[in-house]
Amino acid sequence: MPVEELEDRVILTDANDSSTKLTILKFGATIISWHHKGQEKLWLSQAAKLDGSKAVRGGIPLVFPIFGKQKDASHPTAKLPQHGFARNNYWEFLGQTKETPSTVQFGLGPEQLDPDTRSKWPFDFTLILTISISQDKLHQHIEVENTGSTPFEFNWLFHTYYRVDDITDVLVNNLVDITCFDQLIAEQYTEKSPVLSFHEEFDRIYKNINQNRTIQIIDKGKVLYNLHRTNLQDSVVWNPWTAKAAGMADFEPKDGFHNMVCVEPGHVSSMVVLPAKQKWSGAQEIEIGGEIKVQANIFE
Ligand code: BG6
Repeated sequence: MPVEELEDRVILTDANDSSTKLTILKFGATIISWHHKGQEKLWLSQAAKLDGSKAVRGGIPLVFPIFGKQKDASHPTAKLPQHGFARNNYWEFLGQTKETPSTVQFGLGPEQLDPDTRSKWPFDFTLILTISISQDKLHQHIEVENTGSTPFEFNWLFHTYYRVDDITDVLVNNLVDITCFDQLIAEQYTEKSPVLSFHEEFDRIYKNINQNRTIQIIDKGKVLYNLHRTNLQDSVVWNPWTAKAAGMADFEPKDGFHNMVCVEPGHVSSMVVLPAKQKWSGAQEIEIGGEIKVQANIFE
């Protein structure tokens, strides 16, 4: 059965391989598991709340309409919680839209928001999330429509938590020469490392990355993932390491940061301005395996 709808989640199975499936919670339309040929690809905290009481710690939470917390108190997103509301409201399951690749859609609009959130962000909008699974690829496409009569501004981010054996063996490539904002020291600089490696807390926003660049996550010389982006100019790279993981109640086990890395494509270094009656869309495709592809020193 390619699509199975349960009360709180949807299970989407690859039409050609029953050992490859996604589990998508209706809460936040959060993918909490990508089981690929019998192996789990996403990291999910053992203490993650899956009952709708808190955004899920792990999987792929969706960040909209604000990344982090808005610093400008006069901005319409100022009253919203960190990372907005898409990850902590129930989305409507819209059903299966394609058999091959197995594809489903979820929708979120003002009618799904809890009254408190609605009062904090009173714009009219529709979000349509399309998720497909096929062989070695997971595809997520988001369309944001402004259905109201005034423009609004937003950020979008696919907050993807990858499961890895040991973070100190992991490299992330093809971000050299990209401007990044290091959230830990609040400074902006040009990335000089041909590959990123991880030995302490890491929290950087890489900005305006040419779409031709494929970010790769590499483990002991082997490509785990190729991250293809459409209309998503930025990418956040994050690992909380010891102290930050210790401070998060829903992060378990406490040394679980060894087994995860977040590489999160989005549009967060500026806000998308969406005029009335207009649509915007962006997508990420995660492709497993392949060769190391070095795209360093490519100046567009
Ligand atoms: C990352 C941010 O995207 O999300 C980090 O860059 C943040 O600064 C992390 O700590 C987790 O955020 P949250 O709200 O899920 O704890």
